[in-house]
Amino acid sequence: MTTPPLHPSLSSLSFLLGIWRGTGKGKYPSIEDFEYGEEISFSHVGKPFLIYTQRSWDLQNHNGLHIESGYLRPVGNHRAELVLSQPTGITEMHEGEIISTKVEFSTLEVSCTPSAKQVSSVKRILEVTGKTLNYNVAIEAVGYPLLPHLTSQLVLS
Ligand code: HEM
Repeated sequence: MTTPPLHPSLSSLSFLLGIWRGTGKGKYPSIEDFEYGEEISFSHVGKPFLIYTQRSWDLQNHNGLHIESGYLRPVGNHRAELVLSQPTGITEMHEGEIISTKVEFSTLEVSCTPSAKQVSSVKRILEVTGKTLNYNVAIEAVGYPLLPHLTSQLVLS
């Protein structure tokens, strides 16, 4: 399939397009701190949404860690909606505000299957500065309030 032109409604999110690779750090009160390698892709098919895929791995043994995928849809010039799913039985729906090359997402809804870890809220901030994509993820989960879980820096490859 050839890539069609970018849908005009995606202009406010086009700064995210591409394949980003780098490393991140994770923590939460209930677990050991950890570091990870990561690849994130934002692509399009000419329709008014971006396709988001993410995968991460252990930096020591290269075993797979977290993976997730979803869709990001602009609403007007300054807002975006994100839906995403994780193989661990969690889905997230977010509404976000686009501020220049930053998107701040707040949870509309998180759903967990009966066997999933209990997560009730997620805050995600994505920001591109120059050729670097920085993001932060905070989670309210397993009985703790909203606290930082991830921070990562990735560059366009
Ligand atoms: C780069 C992405 C991520 C990586 C590398 C990552 C990695 C980890 C690791 C290594 C652990 C501890 C061991 C384990 O339970 O597997 C963990 C725990 C956890 N993570 Fe993540 N995670 C990521 C994203 C997320 C996201 C997006 C959420 C929620 C929306 C999340 C929720 C949790 C929860 C609830 C726990 C369990 C805490 C507990 O059982 O005490 N993680 N994560």
